[in-house]
Amino acid sequence: MIDRRTFGLALGSGVAGLALAGCSRPAGGAARWRLGFSQVTTTEPWRVLFSREMRETAAAHPDLQLTIADGQDRTEKQVADVEAFVRQRVDLILVSPKESAGLTGAVEAATAAGIPVIVLDRGVDTEAYRQFIGSDNLKIGRMAGDYAVGLLGGKGKAQGRIVEIWGGMASTPAQERHKGFAAAADAEPGLVRVMDRQDADWKQDRAYNIMASALKAHPKIDLVYAHNDPMAYGAYLAAMDAGRQGEIRFIGIDGIPTEGAKWVKDGALTATFVYEPPGAEAIEQALRILKGEAVPKRIELGTQVIDATTVDAFLAKHA
Ligand code: FRU
Repeated sequence: MIDRRTFGLALGSGVAGLALAGCSRPAGGAARWRLGFSQVTTTEPWRVLFSREMRETAAAHPDLQLTIADGQDRTEKQVADVEAFVRQRVDLILVSPKESAGLTGAVEAATAAGIPVIVLDRGVDTEAYRQFIGSDNLKIGRMAGDYAVGLLGGKGKAQGRIVEIWGGMASTPAQERHKGFAAAADAEPGLVRVMDRQDADWKQDRAYNIMASALKAHPKIDLVYAHNDPMAYGAYLAAMDAGRQGEIRFIGIDGIPTEGAKWVKDGALTATFVYEPPGAEAIEQALRILKGEAVPKRIELGTQVIDATTVDAFLAKHA
């Protein structure tokens, strides 16, 4: 009798992938491939949308069975979730890490165990994964910086005091969003970043508190750049409570219809930049990998600015 595994391997890696998957198919017509997704947290609206799009896309493929583990916004929990997927021998692991360094070992171990890993939105400090899918945060930061320069007087002439509120400093999006913004803002001698190493870990309430202190310390603030919309909105609420929202512009990132885009429409934020949730694309790419197809190491999702000039069209399109 021919050993299917040896037979598959002899025909090349693509066929081997199929043959191996065939071997692992459970009895009774159950899904052919099991996917484990380690999501950093399931409470923030951007995350909820991300997981929902992933679930809906997976549900349309009867070959797939998707399990989502909630990392509860804690690195240790998320590492344990990835390790559990490895022990369960799922066919592919997806992970959107809380922090880059903290999740690096778990990603390397999954890859070493022969399980393909797709890293989503936030990066890790290793190349030992099959694919990364996410937006170019350096570019988004740069766009936000250029936008801020435009708001505050234009290239070479910009004047103003800026508060920057960071997402988690140990994550790649926060680092890149900072770097891109700084490249644009620091080229302007008239721009001063009065608070620029404040970590609110992506949270609205923490951003509120940071902004409340900033407002006490600085009688003049012209612009707040926050690494996501919930933090920009938290800062806006703090300014409102201090009666100073009218003199400050607020810029965020994410641009989901129910938050950032709505806050632009309401006039709370001046602008936000779309950060596309990678859930649907991740499932399409996972399928390609499981079928043995070659995939690019990195897939970049797009972005766009949402401000008063584009918000209506954006909301109409995403109604
Ligand atoms: C949600 C979130 C988004 C942000 C992304 C960065 O958890 O904080 O608001 O754009 O993560 O990874």
